[in-house]
Amino acid sequence: MKKFLIVSVLAGLACSSVVAADGATLYKKCVACHGAKAEKKYLGKIPALNTIEVDKMVEDMMAYKAGSKNDFKMGAVMKGQMASMSEEDMKAVAEHIQTLK
Ligand code: HEC
Repeated sequence: MKKFLIVSVLAGLACSSVVAADGATLYKKCVACHGAKAEKKYLGKIPALNTIEVDKMVEDMMAYKAGSKNDFKMGAVMKGQMASMSEEDMKAVAEHIQTLK
């Protein structure tokens, strides 16, 4: 499982704009903070991701990547998470999150 994650992260870095991203694989790196079913309110205050629509979530992720969102003063944490993700990756992971509801 861990090995698969590393391989797919590297593959994502190498050709994220060419190969369609796998949302389920991408979501694995979000689980620790946002919960296995995207149901967790991280630190008791970050909205559960399974309550956010796809378009809004991609918009949020793009804003974190650009460094322009910092609603809970922890935008830097998310900026680091988004650094290696393309917009396609964000869409794929956002769509995967909708299936966790
Ligand atoms: C190390 C913990 C951590 C990881 C891993 C993480 N996040 Fe976050 N996430 C946060 C924090 C902290 C915030 C709030 C940042 C802020 O705005 O101050 C946040 C906020 C968000 C928000 C915005 C929520 C809102 O309504 O404002 C989205 C969307 C999000 N994360 C998606 C993801 C996705 C998708 C992944 C995996 C690719 C991910 N996060 C990985 C900690 C994390």
